Amino acid sequence: MSDLKTVLSEAVAAAFAAEGVDAALARVTPSDRPDLADFQSNGALAAAKALKANPRELAGKIAERLTADPRFASVEVAGPGFINLKLADALLAERAAEVAADIEHAGAALVADPRKVVIDYGGPNVAKPMHVGHLRSAIIGESLKRLFRFRGDHVTGDAHFGDWGFQMGLLIVACGDEGLAEGFLVEGDGPFPADSPVTLADLDRLYPLAAGKAKEDPAFRDRARKATAELQNGRPGYRALWAHFVAVSREALKREYGDLSVDFDLWNGESDADPQMPEMLAHLKATGLLVEDDGAQVVHVAKPGETRKKKLADGSVIEAPSPPPLLVISSEGSAMYGTTDLATILDRKKALAPDLALYVVDERQAEHFEQVFRAAYLAGYAVEGSLEHLGFGTMNGQDGKPFKTRAGGVLKLRDLIDQATDKARERLHEAKLGDDLSPEEFEAIAHKVAIAALKFADLSNARTTSYVFDLDRFMSFEGKTGPYLLYQSVRIKSLLRKAAEQGAEPGAIVIAEQAERDLALTLDAFSTAVSDAYDKRMPHLVAEHAYRVAQSFSKFYAACPVLVAPDAATRASRLALSAAALRQLETALTLLGIETPERM
Ligand code: ARG
Repeated sequence: MSDLKTVLSEAVAAAFAAEGVDAALARVTPSDRPDLADFQSNGALAAAKALKANPRELAGKIAERLTADPRFASVEVAGPGFINLKLADALLAERAAEVAADIEHAGAALVADPRKVVIDYGGPNVAKPMHVGHLRSAIIGESLKRLFRFRGDHVTGDAHFGDWGFQMGLLIVACGDEGLAEGFLVEGDGPFPADSPVTLADLDRLYPLAAGKAKEDPAFRDRARKATAELQNGRPGYRALWAHFVAVSREALKREYGDLSVDFDLWNGESDADPQMPEMLAHLKATGLLVEDDGAQVVHVAKPGETRKKKLADGSVIEAPSPPPLLVISSEGSAMYGTTDLATILDRKKALAPDLALYVVDERQAEHFEQVFRAAYLAGYAVEGSLEHLGFGTMNGQDGKPFKTRAGGVLKLRDLIDQATDKARERLHEAKLGDDLSPEEFEAIAHKVAIAALKFADLSNARTTSYVFDLDRFMSFEGKTGPYLLYQSVRIKSLLRKAAEQGAEPGAIVIAEQAERDLALTLDAFSTAVSDAYDKRMPHLVAEHAYRVAQSFSKFYAACPVLVAPDAATRASRLALSAAALRQLETALTLLGIETPERM
């Protein structure tokens, strides 16, 4: 059986058709007035308009046909011609049983035609510190990856590591100047040392220094630019040193992402597209797309007439193409950020042939992707519309600006997780949770609570909006928070454990009480939440559903005694409902990348 909305839409469509009106208008939606009905169909209004008939009368005729259907407890016409549907308890019970039995998908429907999807997210850079944009990209991207995979698509998550730009030239020169590149700077084919003394701490320290120096010291900047171009052109010693930087950085990032339960299928970097460069440049040239512009090579991507006003250095204003041309080769001969992105599209086309590629990257890079995607379509590297930039808003500080540490620096993921874990410990103690557990188990739980708080806070906001970082609020055990949802899951788990100890088993679901109806309706709505989140690429719809399940369960548990239910059959039914609620809550949380502990 499909979800109730679909089942009911079919029933109502049949009644529409029997009345000779357009069945496509029969669409059923959850009721605006849950106190009066479970679902409603407003289609009779539009249908009557098309037929120039009286909408109330038409709705009445359709309602009459539906009344005979035993799946409805009542069918009523309201207002100008709305059809209000109240479902029979038996239908709700049947659907709830189905959700309960669906171990893998908790009642959610899969896609009809699975696609090959690449999700480009995370996007950390070698040596450059991660900023909050990388955190959001990791959290949102991981959730989308899980969501798409859950619905049946073949998904490849790629970290698209920033390992190829100017920062690599900066690091090579800076390491050389500090005497950390011994043996790597000689020209020729080597041999080069198998190891280098450069540590992660060196990279962390050297990058900001070198970046600062490049701004002030043109000679230093030029050396770094030259080193970048030489690296890209394959100078062996530079490649060997670079490979060491990448390895050191990647290991550290893997650990940090691991702590966040973020996991990539591919740890490719911008550099992995480098082998595509000769072919790509030849193709762009042969098709006339690559043109000379002031010493650089660019691809024009704006259509005729697509312009915007641009102020020049001398103060004059011109109409410039919009989006601006994609810079492919700089005047120094280096590949740029857009170049590697374009070559990566070609690389992925050959390696994965994706039907869809989603880029989960800060909204502020929207123009960059517009340029790259247009160039890719022009070059025939992707089917028009198959590349999507999923931008997101920023995580802001209390001042409304992108979050900074108290010292004014960029956020280090490690520090954020530590800070959140401290707060989680504090909160658990305050709430007297986990006091009876071993120190190891307590630590593991504090970590889960911390990650749940951070992720849920992020994912409960629509992807496109910005939000304010407020650890106190994120970490509360009350309200729409990760810790609240973990707590509710743990509560259900403990209820089920107690029942098992008493020898009580889940059994056939019977719906009788209002709170049971409401819980069954909530469980049914998961399928829509998941497919809407998928269609809109909006994980917050799953987050909202998780919260709804927790609340529905709470109300149910308050109104309907489970362990001390009036009789064994009712107890078995309520246990089955509880188990289904737990499974769906945990499934939704898993889709958000959140793990639930067994106890707390
Ligand atoms: N490394 C980039 C940055 O830090 C993000 C990469 C996003 N992905 C991409 N295909 N460009 O801004």
